[in-house]
Parts: sequence; structure tokens; C-alpha cells
Amino acid sequence: MIKEVFNRMLSRPKKYKTEIVPADEAGLARAAALLSAGENCAIPTETVYGLAASAFDDHAVGRIFTIKGRPQDNPLIVHVSSVSMIWPLVEEMDSRIEILAKNFWPGPLTLVMKKSGLISNVVSAGLDTVAIRIPAHPAALKLIDLCGFPIAAPSANLSGRPSPTSAEHVYADLKSKIPLIVDGGNCLVGVESTVLSLVGEPTILRPGRITAAALSKLIGPVALAKGVTEEPQEGEQVASPGMAHRHYSPSAKVILIEGNRANYLHYLHENSQDNVFALCFDEDIDGLEQIPYLSFGDVKDPEEAERRLFSALRELDEKGAATVYARCPDHTGRWLAIFNRLQRAAGFEVIRFEKDK
Ligand code: TXA
Ligand code: MG
Repeated sequence: MIKEVFNRMLSRPKKYKTEIVPADEAGLARAAALLSAGENCAIPTETVYGLAASAFDDHAVGRIFTIKGRPQDNPLIVHVSSVSMIWPLVEEMDSRIEILAKNFWPGPLTLVMKKSGLISNVVSAGLDTVAIRIPAHPAALKLIDLCGFPIAAPSANLSGRPSPTSAEHVYADLKSKIPLIVDGGNCLVGVESTVLSLVGEPTILRPGRITAAALSKLIGPVALAKGVTEEPQEGEQVASPGMAHRHYSPSAKVILIEGNRANYLHYLHENSQDNVFALCFDEDIDGLEQIPYLSFGDVKDPEEAERRLFSALRELDEKGAATVYARCPDHTGRWLAIFNRLQRAAGFEVIRFEKDK
């Protein structure tokens, strides 16, 4: 009984004066010392910032769920700095791991595999699998090497909020909940990694910058989980628990408008009221007249849209947007990741115009 109470206290978050430190030698040494002592801190990766804990410390991992307000059924990604760190964590190394590693790691790809006994049920949320990736941010790699253990880290936002792509975003969400944020600058990718399950038929559970087409060139057919493009139904079993939860939402109500430029502008003007904002492409701007806006950038540049997406969703709140009409991007190739995040930010509310009308 006393042990139980003590354990609960160990995983209970304390109040901190949150410090932001640069990702230099001193900053990374402090982060490594904290993680080694069973504390949490936020770290940069090339995709989004992560809220870190030693993957071998159940109390520190458990605290991640409390700090974020994360549902207990949503497993975490484990970050390593080399392929050799993976084999003790999985049931068996399959040859596809080496092939994918050679082509995409370090980088925005997460692989789901059968876990070994070293991965606890706290990390995997009770599943018999584990999600692992080698991140590309040099500070994240250096930190893992300094620690000498794998780092469990979900995105460092409050659950349900847009993922953080800068140290300031993390501070806005987690101030006083964690002791340290390592500032590695703005994230170069900007949306979270592609999650690919290698258990059974290779399946993308969450789309990201690395597309199904790029993956299937190396490992053959790759399926898309149903939840990637469709709204999960109440009580439905989803391959990736994270896909079932409301996500990425700013306080403003986001509505996606699917149609061409003319459809979009027409709808906006018909529905424009106070505090209605447009989240559009550069090509829409000259048709907006007085409607305030933020832009994803060039309609032909998915990488720019990825970099801007989450920070735009946060900025719209800062500007006092009540309703945001977002122009729906394409659903194919590189755009799928952006479409998938926007659809969730909009709670699947999409207004569709017929093609070419
Ligand atoms: O880019 C990223 O992946 C970032 C950075 C910090 O690495 N991390 C991230 O973590 O986005 P998080 O926790 O926000 O999203 C992890 C996703 C969730 O949708 C979760 O359900 C899924 O990966 N996931 C994790 N472990 C899984 C498993 N064993 N089986 C299926 N899905 C899993
Ligand atoms: Mg997340």
C-alpha cells in the first residue's frame, strides 16, 4: 500500500520554473542529467518537439501522460540514435528495417514492430508492439548518445492541441509542468513522422513526409490504414490509437473547404463575419479583399505547407480567430499528411464542392 502511494507520487508532475536553454553542449548535458535522474524535458526533433523521458523509466514515462493530458491508450514513440540500439527492443530484426534505415534514417519515419520484454506496457500502452525512429535533428541524436538509453517522446503539446514546432510553442503549452526545454530552433519538417507498421502487411498508420510511394519502392506494397483519410467511428478498433482522438485543434473552429480557388473565395465571401479568418494558399490572397488570412504558402509546395501548418493554427488563436475556413489541399502524395492533420483539426467538418464547378 505504502509502495503504491510512493509510486504514484513518483509519477506525479511537480511545478517548475521552466527554463529554455540552447541546444549546445551545456544545454544537452543538462537535459541528459535530467532524463537520467528520471525527470522529463522537451527536446527538438526535425519533425516536431518531443516531451522526453527515459524509455526504461516507467515513472518518468507515466508522467508524460499526466503532463500532456494524454489518453492512457495512446502509445509513445521510442527514439534511438542507431539501428544497433533497436534490436534489444524488438522481438526480431527483419531485413526491411535495414533497408528502410539506409534510405530514410535519420529522418521522419517511425516503424511499428513486435516489442521485446524491454519495452514496458506504459510505453506501448499495453500493446505487444513498439514504435521506433531515429530522428534527424543533431541535438536529439547527441542527447540520445549522451544518455545511452532510448528516449520515449510524444509531441510536446497538450493533448489535442497543435503539435509544437518551436521552443515557444512548447513553453506556451507546458510552462511550469517541466523543468527544461532544449531550444533547437524551428522544426525543419514541421509535421510528425510517417508511422509505418511492419506487423503483418506493411501499413501506414499516420501519413508524413515519407510517402507510401517512396516506401513501396523499397519494400513492395504498402497499405494505408482506414483511419488515415476517414473519420473513425465510435468504438471502432483503429490500428494506431492516436488516430482515434481529436487532434491538432486550435481554440478557433476550423472548417475545411474542398474545391477550387473560385469555390473557396465565393464561400468565404458569403460567410465572412467578424473574426472569420482564411487559411489559404498564396494564390488566394488577392481575392480575399478585407478577410484576414494566414497562408500555407505556394499551392505547389507541400514542404512549405508542412512547415507552416501547426504554427499557423496557433497563430490564428493568437489573432483571435473564431472561425477559420481552410482551403483543403490535395489528398495525394506529399499533401496527404497535411490533409490528414487539417481534417482532424477541423473535427472532420468538410464542405465539398463538386470538381471543376
Ligand atoms: O515525428 C514524430 O513522430 C514526433 C517526434 C517527437 O518524434 N512524435 C510524435 O509522437 O508525433 P505522438 O505520440 O504525438 O504520436 C505517435 C503516434 C500516435 O498516433 C500513436 O498512436 C502511434 O504513433 N503509435 C505509437 N506507438 C504505436 C504502436 N505500438 N502501434 C501503433 N501506433 C503507435
Ligand atoms: Mg502528438
